[in-house]
Amino acid sequence: MSEVAFLQLLSLGVVGVGIVILLFIRALFVRVVGFVVIVLAAFTLISLGVPQVPSLPPAVEQFDLAKIKTPTDLAAIGQKIFFSKGQCSLCHSIGPRAAARCPDLKGVGAKLTREFLFESLTDPQAYISLDYRHEGLPKQYPAHMPAIHRNPIALTKGEILTVIAFLQHMSGEPVGVKVQEVMDASEAVEVASVSPAGS
Ligand code: HEC
Repeated sequence: MSEVAFLQLLSLGVVGVGIVILLFIRALFVRVVGFVVIVLAAFTLISLGVPQVPSLPPAVEQFDLAKIKTPTDLAAIGQKIFFSKGQCSLCHSIGPRAAARCPDLKGVGAKLTREFLFESLTDPQAYISLDYRHEGLPKQYPAHMPAIHRNPIALTKGEILTVIAFLQHMSGEPVGVKVQEVMDASEAVEVASVSPAGS
């Protein structure tokens, strides 16, 4: 039995006990206790009935460059970043989702070129589709998509390349990002972040 089901049974039991007290016990104080118990247990039941949204894993995602051999490895890392540090899944879905407020990214790796994807991620304002939800005449609107290489998400160039690899891979496209590029980009970042402290 799941933890939630167990707690629900327990609360139901407590409600039952409260009702028995109200029905059979005359002493006023005990009746008040019974009533309070019913109310509390009923609230617990309602709160347990609310579906829980799993929280995203912590933002730190280290990847081991030595383990990357093929473009598919890149896509696998990009997938992790998509759902964790990149926070893409907070806004985007892959495939239609009822609550979606942002473009569905299913097939986006086939729809957009690699260069266009890179621009969409790092300079979202550069090319904006007309407001797809707008009623009446469509109009230009400011980008809601955050620039992914800046704070607070701040993906490195290497990380962005792996996310692009993931978007292409999950769209059934050949991955257009080369392993060596990610290595070079990551090294460049490492050098850049090490040298000021080192010198
Ligand atoms: C705060 C919400 C938000 C987050 C986080 C976010 N996006 Fe977006 N994204 C949007 C919105 C909204 C658009 C539509 C254009 C606009 O309004 O800026 C968009 C547009 C895009 C597009 C262009 C889609 C098209 O069909 O032209 C791509 C590709 C994309 N996002 C990928 C990503 C990736 C990859 C990440 C994670 C690294 C990410 N987004 C994180 C909100 C977000």
